[in-house]
Amino acid sequence: MKELTKIVSAGRHPEDHFGVVNPPVFRASTVTFPTLDAWDEARANRFDGITYGRFGTPTTRAFEEAVAILEGADKAVSVPSGMGACTSAIMSVVSAGDHMLVQDSAYQPVRNLSNMILSRYGVEITYFDSALGADVAGLIQPNTKLIYLESPGSQTFEMPDIPAITAVARERGIMTAMDNTWATSFFCKPLELGVDLSINAATKYLVGHSDAMLGVISMRQELYENVKITANFLGGGPGSEEAWLGLRGIRTLGVRLPQHQINATRIAEWLQTRPEVNQVLYPALPDHPGHDIWKRDFKGASGLMSVMLNPFERDAVAAMVDGLEHFLLGASFGGYESLILPIDPTNYRTATTWTAPGPCLRLHVGLEDTDDLIEDLERGFARLTAAG
Ligand SMILES: Cc1ncc(COP(=O)(O)O)c(C=O)c1O
Repeated sequence: MKELTKIVSAGRHPEDHFGVVNPPVFRASTVTFPTLDAWDEARANRFDGITYGRFGTPTTRAFEEAVAILEGADKAVSVPSGMGACTSAIMSVVSAGDHMLVQDSAYQPVRNLSNMILSRYGVEITYFDSALGADVAGLIQPNTKLIYLESPGSQTFEMPDIPAITAVARERGIMTAMDNTWATSFFCKPLELGVDLSINAATKYLVGHSDAMLGVISMRQELYENVKITANFLGGGPGSEEAWLGLRGIRTLGVRLPQHQINATRIAEWLQTRPEVNQVLYPALPDHPGHDIWKRDFKGASGLMSVMLNPFERDAVAAMVDGLEHFLLGASFGGYESLILPIDPTNYRTATTWTAPGPCLRLHVGLEDTDDLIEDLERGFARLTAAG
């Protein structure tokens, strides 16, 4: 089956719901059983069956089935947020006394989890430069259990050589996890690149409308029970309404993401012509340092990029950002709308030194007409230079 057809049909079972195309929102905490035998049988099959709201409802199972099919995985586990997916994936692998390698440009709260919580539980963490590729082997210790990856890197869009890193990890019996939120499984399939645990903040492109919190981890069958138990005991188990919104979002992913790419590419190329801009960080641009890796491993690019500006004062950036009409100031990308966010990776990266000539802005290019978006940015740049 072709990918676009899978996006429409994965996890869909109208025959189970009177022919209704979409599964209902099963609002459920309590699940009841007619007999003790039925209860015992359900408990024995609790990883796949329906026994208790937190462990899964028919709606969350439908979402997981769809995601697993699209990721090329055997199983998926849904959780109440993208961060929940990062945490559950990591904690399903590492224990006290273990060592974990974390990409320096991983989503910053994963660093906070590592530095503030995992370290308290005796997990040793080393951050690494994603440019190392297979040379990450030099940082592996006898107790290294997990290499945590994200592609492209959060905010700064480095493209780690995922197959090179996963090959090293497999040779040494080390697990890998990769945050695939930027591309989603429509544009990148981490398991095909050798990754063990593929993480997606479904809050972003899968939900796609900025109106639900949801996360999901995809994996081979043999890793499933451990991830499921970890997620569950950490309190995971999203509400059915959220899973339903994730499922609804997935159905249009195949038309939304390519349009994000078309719009983002036009904006990125236009930004490159602007005198206020020093560099545009978007892997689909041919001069991006990770472009060849992106072309090799990804089928497309989503709407998120960063822009390094020439030197301007904060007040000038505020004048630009505050007056924008279509680029709203906000953090959680992946919805239909355009967003802008000042970022500053200088103060938390430790394995690499982030240098930029001026302020940096992260842009999420939404589904508006790009003529309007360019006019909005043009007026913004006029305010920036007038104030700067
Ligand atoms: C790359 C990435 N991973 C994970 C997350 C966390 O997702 P959530 O906000 O759903 O917890 C985010 C959120 O911004 C993200 O950008």
